[in-house]
Amino acid sequence: MKTIIEPFKIKSVEPIYFTTREQRAIILKEAHYNPFLIHASEVLIDLLTDSGTSAMSSNQWAGIMQGDESYAGSTSFFHFESTIQEITGMPVIIPTHQGRASEKILFSIVGGKGKYIVSNTLFDTTRANIEFSGATGVDLICEEGKYPTIPAPFKGNMDIEALKTFIAEKGAENIPLCMMTITNNSGGGQPVSMQNIREAKAVCSSYGIPLFIDACRFAENAYFIKLRESGYSEKSIPEIVCELFSYADGCTMSAKKDAFANIGGFIAMHSEQLAQQCRNMLILTEGFPTYGGLAGRDLEAISIGLREVMDEHYLQYRIRSVEYLTNQLITAGVPVMQPAGGHAIYLDAKKFLAHIPVHQYPGQALVGALYLHGGIRGVEIGSLMFGKYNEQQQLIPAQQELVRLAIPRRVYTQSHIDYVAEVIIEVYQERAKIKGLRIVEEAPMLRHFTAKLTPIVS
Ligand code: F0G
Repeated sequence: MKTIIEPFKIKSVEPIYFTTREQRAIILKEAHYNPFLIHASEVLIDLLTDSGTSAMSSNQWAGIMQGDESYAGSTSFFHFESTIQEITGMPVIIPTHQGRASEKILFSIVGGKGKYIVSNTLFDTTRANIEFSGATGVDLICEEGKYPTIPAPFKGNMDIEALKTFIAEKGAENIPLCMMTITNNSGGGQPVSMQNIREAKAVCSSYGIPLFIDACRFAENAYFIKLRESGYSEKSIPEIVCELFSYADGCTMSAKKDAFANIGGFIAMHSEQLAQQCRNMLILTEGFPTYGGLAGRDLEAISIGLREVMDEHYLQYRIRSVEYLTNQLITAGVPVMQPAGGHAIYLDAKKFLAHIPVHQYPGQALVGALYLHGGIRGVEIGSLMFGKYNEQQQLIPAQQELVRLAIPRRVYTQSHIDYVAEVIIEVYQERAKIKGLRIVEEAPMLRHFTAKLTPIVS
């Protein structure tokens, strides 16, 4: 087979910024060893997130010029509405300014004290919005999803037996919604199989519980189904997507991922009654139902992006480039989550820096080393992000110490990816020199965004 090439040519380019190792040592120190505090102009390859960082196509930019900025009844809204109706098969489409705005609206209506929202794995903002409403978020990930380095085709699946047991225990009346996250971001960007979605739907239906999909990366998930699930290899991506949404009563979406947009989102659903409540809340917090916190031009960019993302040449290149990076790391013996997920690679910092104990934040130390060595910015998903303190102020560590390097869509080429692999492998070879970190300042909530740290010199 020939090399899988980027399925685009480049019309407009943006500079990336080179710094020396000496400069980066100063920048890192001044940013208190927290990559969120580094200016983007001091980053060479920015893998902090795949959200809102996509390159838009010439068609999307053309759509931007055609955006209709009317307050009510914008032509761009009707384009947006009909596109999403066609893709999801759902009649009600509500625009929002991003994914978490959709979550806030949905859970302030269906959530509340004493309620449980069950999921394969809830993303942080989804969980936070559920908990803010007073409800409890429950993750029921399948067994194989719990082990980062053991390969399996659908590690994002929900544990269907656990779902049945949970509903029987808590009572269907206390579970207003089941949320399936595709692909499972917090679980390593791993896909969910069609069979799992179908089975979750059957269980939910038998109890009258609506099934919603967190659809941020629906096209990447559909491509994995085509590759890995029997019976789907001959189906087109739109056909797979159509079946996938046919099992859902609704979905929330961040258009910052699989719509190639820099901002935007939506809620889609079948129930007109729930939609009415959502629209009332939308007017309060986002805007009129035909723009929902977005400019008409954003609605156009999203409508066009949603069709482009289902192109098989694009998805083949997208999934392959993440796998290509993962494979280079596996060959060099670097501990990385397997198999490759859809949008990011996840380094296992506990194994990578086995000499750094968890209370010295090995994930954050690795993030710092990648920046220092190669100007690459990633994010820690470990005890800095999820750790808590017990009554003696000792750290209760997170289950895993991971570093996520998320790949923006259509932004970097194969040589950038090769460079990233080289840097990670070099850092791995020199790992013994990396020191742990101590927190010197932190916020009471979501501390990883602003925490200040310093290296532990022994
Ligand atoms: N759901 C999932 C699965 C996500 O990955 C995200 C965002 C959201 C919901 C919220 O969407 O950012 O538009 O409000 N994930 C980004 C990330 C931030 O870096 O993984 P949003």
